[in-house]
Amino acid sequence: GKIPLVDSFARVHNYLRISLTETCNFSCSYCMPAGGVDGHSKSDLMTNEEIIVLARVFARRGINKIRLTGGEPTLRKDLHKLIAELKKIDGIDDIGITTNGLILGRQLDQLKAAGLDKINISLDTLIPRRFEQMTKVFGFEKVFKAIDATEAAYGRVKVNVVVIRGFNTDELTSFVHATKNRNWDVRFIEFMPFGGNDFKDDKFVGYSEQLEIIRKDFGNQIVRLQDSPNDTSKAYKIIGHRGQFGFISSMSDNFCSTCNRVRLTANGNLKVCLHSNAEVSLVDALRRGGTERNVEEIIEKALWKKKAEHAGLEMLPHMENRPMVLIGG
Ligand code: GTP
Ligand code: 5AD
Ligand code: SF4
Repeated sequence: GKIPLVDSFARVHNYLRISLTETCNFSCSYCMPAGGVDGHSKSDLMTNEEIIVLARVFARRGINKIRLTGGEPTLRKDLHKLIAELKKIDGIDDIGITTNGLILGRQLDQLKAAGLDKINISLDTLIPRRFEQMTKVFGFEKVFKAIDATEAAYGRVKVNVVVIRGFNTDELTSFVHATKNRNWDVRFIEFMPFGGNDFKDDKFVGYSEQLEIIRKDFGNQIVRLQDSPNDTSKAYKIIGHRGQFGFISSMSDNFCSTCNRVRLTANGNLKVCLHSNAEVSLVDALRRGGTERNVEEIIEKALWKKKAEHAGLEMLPHMENRPMVLIGG
């Protein structure tokens, strides 16, 4: 059998998130720093070949689920070819992407044909004007249509909503209403601080307050659903609705004790925790002629240093971390 990737707290890691690009076609203030980011030069970013070699190493150690992120992953040239190659790797049985949906529509068929298993789409507001304010792009219709098209192609779709006080707290119930006739899994995400973003304590709305807001309209029609073991979200639904909703409470009630995730940045660094700056380059090891076994050893060592959890609201806003656009969530 495979020797699993465990950390010092006996957490088994089977989920790899790979960032494919440092650029994005949106400029949301919770993710992209106001002046943009100084990305790495193109030659520092992983090639498709390198991604595949690294993914194969991870797969040999029990990674069976891959999520492709960015920046914006649909901006990566030949994304479908990469997916098709990743899909061929022994042990990889689930590939997803997390996208802003702007240019997804025209790629959807191709991605599905390549073997993409599922798609999460970010949409923080149902009001076009607000969408434009947040993203700096006129694209609400396109994204909404991409969500519809994804639901049609896959039967379901996850819609990620970052909840920000003063921006969209008055829309939580609209999003829940949207699950009536659509098979959306709307996930309300607690706002997290990252390098260069506009996080402020007073913009933060914890999940219990979010749930209270929704209770005002839906009261005892709300039912709690069963979560899968490593889910990031606490799932709920409204009786009679086709879709469901949930809360990703990274800040107020973190799920670190069941963390099964590791990350590869677009420049080939292993990041063992979303909120930790401790990074080690895997791609450098490959480029220096290291063997795949060397890479495995680097991964094992880094994982062993993974912390039990990240601190919450007191600590995180004062920590230095990469901008979110350079992590991919
Ligand atoms: P599924 O595979 O569909 O469950 O998606 P996911 O929730 O793992 O990934 P997605 O990219 O849709 O991320 C949704 C939100 O969860 C984002 O805000 C992520 O930053 C957050 N998230 C994902 N993984 C982690 C994690 O390991 N730790 C923390 N704290 N947040 C995470
Ligand atoms: N806080 C919470 N979620 C965030 N995301 C991006 N930046 C933040 C933040 N500061 C979300 C995106 C996307 C997912 C990968 O992470 O909206 O849906
Ligand atoms: Fe895992 Fe770190 Fe996220 Fe906690 S904060 S769930 S340890 S990646």
